[in-house]
Amino acid sequence: MSEPNKVLETFSVNGEPHEVAFLPHKTLLEVLREEMGLTGTKHGCELGECGTCTVQIDGTPVLSCLVLAVDAVGKDVRTVEGMACGSGLHPLQDVFADLGAAQCGYCTPGVLMAADALLRDNNSPTREEIKQCLAGNLCRCTGYLKIFEAVEIAAARMRGEDAQPSEESIYGAR
Ligand code: FES
Ligand code: FES
Repeated sequence: MSEPNKVLETFSVNGEPHEVAFLPHKTLLEVLREEMGLTGTKHGCELGECGTCTVQIDGTPVLSCLVLAVDAVGKDVRTVEGMACGSGLHPLQDVFADLGAAQCGYCTPGVLMAADALLRDNNSPTREEIKQCLAGNLCRCTGYLKIFEAVEIAAARMRGEDAQPSEESIYGAR
């Protein structure tokens, strides 16, 4: 049986055009990682259940393991590699690092992508709204509390407030 032919398409990823040849049955996750070398987006279950592959398409979080790459052509794809602001980190990235909200870090790119989309729509989300937004992003390390708090602190900083993690959140209750 003959191999299917690759298709050649140009994707817009993080504001840059990427011309890529790929097999038409490949998912966006596979093409990002294997053809574009954008390995910040992680593969986990590849079944739509863990959220670690979350990217944004036209500003909306999607599970890139469930999207055919051909369906992302002509759309604006954003991955964790596109989050930094110039030479500085995005406030979410900064706070996740300060607070230890990322441990093994495997879930972090997906969490950041989902949280970033939330904060774009809602600059002052409640804890419940943050929980709902991240309900599809599984984390086996952090227990979630630091993740939720990091999103709250990043939101406050993005509103211009001087929010800092409490000592208790960094070092734990004494
Ligand atoms: S790898 Fe896509 S949801 Fe798990
Ligand atoms: S930090 Fe390890 S899975 Fe979330």
